[in-house]
Amino acid sequence: MAVMAEPRRILLAGVSGGIGTAISQQLAGRFPEAQLLSISRSAEPPAGLPVAEHLRADLTEPDSVPAAREFLADRGAPPDWVICCCGILHGGGGGRGPEKALNQCEDRWLLESMRINVITHLHLAQALAPLLQRHCPLVWASLSAKVGSIGDNHLGGWYSYRMSKAALNMLVRNLSIEWGRRLERCCVVAIHPGTTDTGLSKPFQKNIAADKLYSAATSARRIVDVLANLDEARSGRLLFWDGEVLPW
Ligand SMILES: NC(=O)c1ccc[n+]([C@@H]2O[C@H](COP(=O)([O-])OP(=O)(O)OC[C@H]3O[C@@H](n4cnc5c(N)ncnc54)[C@H](OP(=O)(O)O)[C@@H]3O)[C@@H](O)[C@H]2O)c1
Repeated sequence: MAVMAEPRRILLAGVSGGIGTAISQQLAGRFPEAQLLSISRSAEPPAGLPVAEHLRADLTEPDSVPAAREFLADRGAPPDWVICCCGILHGGGGGRGPEKALNQCEDRWLLESMRINVITHLHLAQALAPLLQRHCPLVWASLSAKVGSIGDNHLGGWYSYRMSKAALNMLVRNLSIEWGRRLERCCVVAIHPGTTDTGLSKPFQKNIAADKLYSAATSARRIVDVLANLDEARSGRLLFWDGEVLPW
């Protein structure tokens, strides 16, 4: 049985990103009665999005934890779906990441990747944790990446992205265990959205077959489909966009 097929309150972090924006549009169409709360570094959610309440916060910063907690506490019951879209693969035009070989690895870029790919998700979980109630169902989804799977890594390269997504996957696994003990019904997963046409994948799209590069709307629909059908048996897993379990 699905943990929460019809969410009533949804928290979406990273709403300004390509997939985050598309997920919020998808949620509004699917669950028009649900209240959508968003968090982003931007002062406002992108224009036209169906967001009920928005918090400007940089989840890489420690002070985002009390800020996000207060934002949520002021709005009553905790969210029943939480989706964290935060992530980075490259540093724009500055030539940073992703590394093809060991000699391109730099401490600073690895640490930046860890801050954005892992610590944002950690801070969001820390903000939420004290507000969770034993009897309230929870679905948590961290957008991760298949390249963070150690078992699936047959190509190498992309050191900082792979290492930080592997660390994110471990965070998700730990959360699933801790919250699985605390809550009556919960499912905590990492999801690979598939290669999606956003700013994150833009510099790497030329080698992707057209039918393997998905629009943000398509990826968002698939992610929401997966979340609506999650049962407790899937908790603590890395999932492909069709809901199949990927190896860690
Ligand atoms: N696109 C793909 O092909 C693909 C494939 C596999 C996995 N993913 C994963 O899917 C997620 C969304 O990616 P996307 O394609 O939508 O990329 P995007 O358009 O570049 O969005 C990046 C997201 O990360 C957040 N972010 C970026 N820099 C940040 C920083 N310094 N501090 C805090 N948050 C920061 C943004 O949040 P705000 O700007 O709202 O604060 C935004 O939600 C990422 O975790 C990515 O790794 C994407």
